[in-house]
Amino acid sequence: MAERAVPPRVAAAEGLAAEAGFAYSCTPEVGRLLALTAASKPAGTVAESGTGAGVGTAWLHSGLGAGARLVTVERDEALARRVAGAFADDERVHVLAGDWRLLEAHAPFDVFFCDGGGKRDDPERVVGLLAPGGILVLDDFTPSPDWPPRFDGGVDELRLRYLTHPALHATEIRTAPTASVIVAVRRS
Ligand SMILES: C[S@@+](CC[C@H](N)C(=O)[O-])C[C@H]1O[C@@H](n2cnc3c(N)ncnc32)[C@H](O)[C@@H]1O
Repeated sequence: MAERAVPPRVAAAEGLAAEAGFAYSCTPEVGRLLALTAASKPAGTVAESGTGAGVGTAWLHSGLGAGARLVTVERDEALARRVAGAFADDERVHVLAGDWRLLEAHAPFDVFFCDGGGKRDDPERVVGLLAPGGILVLDDFTPSPDWPPRFDGGVDELRLRYLTHPALHATEIRTAPTASVIVAVRRS
């Protein structure tokens, strides 16, 4: 079966990732989920921590509404500069260079793809940056048949924290046989 085409900016970002030897971009399955979440908030503030080579950014951008804005942050300045260049033609997009906490000045977020900084080191702050009804996406989990979920021989406390957080409606979605994402909505 032929592969489904990806948006041109995603293809360009994948090219940049290959050129830069960057191997941590999101998969197309996660990317399509990102596009969908961005599209669900047509006038929203969409954020990403960990721009990488801009693949996730490009997926979010593919669903971005005319009245929305997209803020992404990357601590690797060279990567941030290259991705900023790729989106210089769209004033809705802001690529910040530095620590993920720079995002705080742009909160609250209607969509937050937390993919570099925050996810592990400060889950409470991550949840606190969401607007009521805001959607949080966290990828790179390994599906577990157990409850509570297990990883690497023990209970996956991080995953449990998000899945049972009192301020969130959260679920886990399998995006590949060996990969899953947590999708959560902040309670109003
Ligand atoms: C998994 S990759 C991001 C992939 C990208 N979001 C995508 O979907 O294509 C994680 C990125 O987060 C960046 N990062 C890690 N910790 C960070 C922090 N505290 N602040 C900003 N960026 C960070 C890393 O340099 C790396 O480029």
